[in-house]
Amino acid sequence: MWWNNVETKPWGYYPLAWDINILSKLGPQVWENGVYKGKTIFEVALSERYIGYLPSEQDWASPNIGEDETSSFLDEQNFFQIIPHHVWNFYLARICNHCTYPACLAACPRLSIYKRPEDGIVLIDQQRCRGYRECVRACPYKKAMYNNVTRISEKCIFCYPAIERGEWPRCMRNCIGKIRMVGFVNIPEKADSENPIDFLVHIKKVALPLYPQFGLEPNVYYIPPIHVSNIRYLQQMFGPNVQNAIEVYKKVRLGEEPEVKGALLLNVSTDRLITKFKVTDKDAIGFDEKGHEVVRVALKEPTIVRPEFDPALGVYRHNVT
Ligand code: SF4
Ligand code: F3S
Repeated sequence: MWWNNVETKPWGYYPLAWDINILSKLGPQVWENGVYKGKTIFEVALSERYIGYLPSEQDWASPNIGEDETSSFLDEQNFFQIIPHHVWNFYLARICNHCTYPACLAACPRLSIYKRPEDGIVLIDQQRCRGYRECVRACPYKKAMYNNVTRISEKCIFCYPAIERGEWPRCMRNCIGKIRMVGFVNIPEKADSENPIDFLVHIKKVALPLYPQFGLEPNVYYIPPIHVSNIRYLQQMFGPNVQNAIEVYKKVRLGEEPEVKGALLLNVSTDRLITKFKVTDKDAIGFDEKGHEVVRVALKEPTIVRPEFDPALGVYRHNVT
C-alpha cells in the first residue's frame, strides 16, 4: 500500500519530510531560462555517488501527519488566535517514477535493480536482493521500500504484466477521480504530436516532472494545481515552467485548447494503451499501436434534462445536478 500514496501538500509527506530533507541536502537550486544550472543529487555528492539518507522508523510511522492541513501551521502558543494566511492545499499522488537515471539502481551493491529496456520499468530482483537498503537511502523520492517482514526491499512494479498485455496498471484503472493516465513517452527531440503523452508533456508542456532538479529524469508527470497562490512553491516542486502549464490548463477549462482537452478526455476513457490520437470538431479518437481505434469520446457531452413530471407514473422528479 505504501508504494502508492497520496500526500496533501504542503504539509503532508511520506516518509516524514522526505522532500524537505533532500532539498536541504541539495542546497541552492539555480535555473536559467528554464534550464537547471544547479547540481543534481549525483553531482553534489563529494565522496559518494549520490546524496541521500535513510529515513528512521519514526519517519515511516506517521503517514497522516500534516494531511489535509492548509498552508500554515496553527500557532501552538495560542490555538484560539486566528492567524491570517492563504488557504490552499493540493493532493500529490506518488508512485515510483521509473526514472530514466534511477538512483536506486546506481546504489545497489548487489546489482539487484534493473531497468527494462523494452518499457523503462525499474524492478528489484526479489531473488538477488539481500536487504542492504542502499536503494532506500539513494532514492530521493523514497519509493524503494524495505519490508521488515521479508527483510528485502520492494517497490512499485508498474503492473508490468498488465503493460505487457497493452493494459494500464491497476492504480490507474481504478482511480475514481480519473486523474491518472499512462502511455509511452519519447525523448523531447523525437516528440510525436500524435502521441497523447508526448503532446501533453513535450509539446504543450502542461504536465511536468516532480523535482526535476534531483537529476533522475522521473517519468511521472503532473499537471500542477491552478489554485495555489504561492507560485514559488510550485516552481520548486515542478520546475520553472509551472506558470505556462497553469495557463494552458486554464485555457482548457475555457474551451480554448480542444486538442489538450481531447488528449485528457481520451486517456481517462479507456484502460488500453493509446499510442496515437486525433481530435475532430466533435470527437477525440484514440488508436492503439496497430492503428486500430480503441476509444472515441465527444468533446462536448450532451446534456439531457428530463421533464419534471413523469405522466407514466404520475410522479414529479427533481433534477439534481
Ligand atoms: Fe528508483 Fe526512486 Fe526513481 Fe523509483 S523513484 S526508479 S525507486 S530512484
Ligand atoms: Fe540492493 Fe536495495 Fe536490496 S540496495 S540488496 S536492492 S535492499
